[in-house]
Amino acid sequence: MIKFKLLLLLCSCLNVLFISADAQLQHTTHHIDHTLQITSLFPDSVCSPSSSTIQGSNKRQSTLEVLHRHGPCSQLGQDKATTPSPSEVLSHDQSRADSIQARVKPNSDTNRIKNTNSNPDRLKDKKANLPVQSGRSLGSGNYIVTVGLGTPTKTLSLIFDTGSDLTWTQCQPCARSCYQQQDPIFNPSASASYSNISCNSPQCSQLSAATGNNPGCSSTTCVYGIQYGDQSFSVGFFSKDKLTITATEVFPNFLFGCGQNNQGLFGNTAGLLGLGRNSLSIISQTAQKYGKYFSYCLPSTSSSTGHLTLGKTTGVPRNVKFTPFANSQGTSFYFIDILSISVGGRQLPISQSVFTTAGSIIDSGTVITRLPPAAYTAMSAAFRKLMAKYKTAPAYSILDTCYDLSGLTTITIPTISFTFGGNVKVDLPPTGILVGISTSRVCLAFAGNNNADDVAIFGNTQQKTLEVVYDVGGGKLGFGPAGCK
Ligand SMILES: *[C@@H]1O[C@H](CO)[C@@H](O)[C@H](O)[C@H]1NC(C)=O
Repeated sequence: MIKFKLLLLLCSCLNVLFISADAQLQHTTHHIDHTLQITSLFPDSVCSPSSSTIQGSNKRQSTLEVLHRHGPCSQLGQDKATTPSPSEVLSHDQSRADSIQARVKPNSDTNRIKNTNSNPDRLKDKKANLPVQSGRSLGSGNYIVTVGLGTPTKTLSLIFDTGSDLTWTQCQPCARSCYQQQDPIFNPSASASYSNISCNSPQCSQLSAATGNNPGCSSTTCVYGIQYGDQSFSVGFFSKDKLTITATEVFPNFLFGCGQNNQGLFGNTAGLLGLGRNSLSIISQTAQKYGKYFSYCLPSTSSSTGHLTLGKTTGVPRNVKFTPFANSQGTSFYFIDILSISVGGRQLPISQSVFTTAGSIIDSGTVITRLPPAAYTAMSAAFRKLMAKYKTAPAYSILDTCYDLSGLTTITIPTISFTFGGNVKVDLPPTGILVGISTSRVCLAFAGNNNADDVAIFGNTQQKTLEVVYDVGGGKLGFGPAGCK
């Protein structure tokens, strides 16, 4: 027995030796910087769709094009009046991050779910009468896909969101309120395949977990209500109808919210597509066909396009490395483990417990990655050191490591890589490192959490151009380079 233990000890020592030798090797052979055109951080004025999108995912029938909500590729983005400024985007992003923290910490007072049952007037109530809490669920998000609903099929542009579950769209007659949207508002009475879900059905009771609010009842129809971190909300009838993803991919009894009272930051979209872990998400509702497997690529700027593919792609995705999902702690979020971060090829000198204290999630709707305070401080310091030759600029909103690049056309920045559970190392593309604020001003695209026990959030800026593969059935998340441009 003792001998066996000794042997184990010896093995792990040897392992450590090998690993550190390996790491040193990587230091010398690994890229430590990127040189890029500053303009590559900003969208062009015209849309140039990713064609590599198609190769990257081995395009199959269930592939949807992903667009940034605001920008030249989106119909919705044409209206300059509704395009938020960078500081508005960042302040909404902070609301979302705050609401994620509230949902992940189930004991916090702000997160207690109040019973809102049996209040049929909610549909007519201006404030929607949803419990006021700092966001049991989250809104906005920045990427949209277009799907079809009903018979005959009506086209809807929905925000896609891995951080929530219920899919909903605004519905006529908008009994209380609908915000302005680009597509015609869905009319359930014009759809031959539409039906209401009744109050006493098992589906109705699934809403509590999916939305954080107990369902209501209006005559016999189940009423949902969902409120997002930024005070946006949707309330309406819980329904089912035919969901058409593409011509060949059709789901006859898709459960969704038919919103009669909708307000908030959904700007011009028709609603939201929920890709979370809960049983009402599109991922769960299509599990029989797609096995809870999906992948996406978010474009580098709003003048390019990405994709969302439901189901396994045929053929092996290129160079995708998988990290195991961590325990989701009963939430609908996708938890992963961050083990370490390297800046300019050097691992940040912080203890692994900095990451394990609160855990980490990946989220398609959070723009800026949030790190534990100790990790962010170390990252910012390492980055500043390697960027010493550039002129610094004042902090901008939640971003505090900024540069004034007036007069320059190219810039050389340190690489940043994340190592996830299973020693999966992911190099971030340059667009995942810097965010452009104005033509001459850029900032490091990371922020620190307020508390050491706040969950880290791997956000969408850092996911750009990567092929991100959710093998939910297989319990693992994959990252591959160059999924789109
Ligand atoms: C769904 O339920 C609502 C509320 O009871 C009702 O007004 C509407 O007509 C119903 N729609 C259908 C198609 O049954």
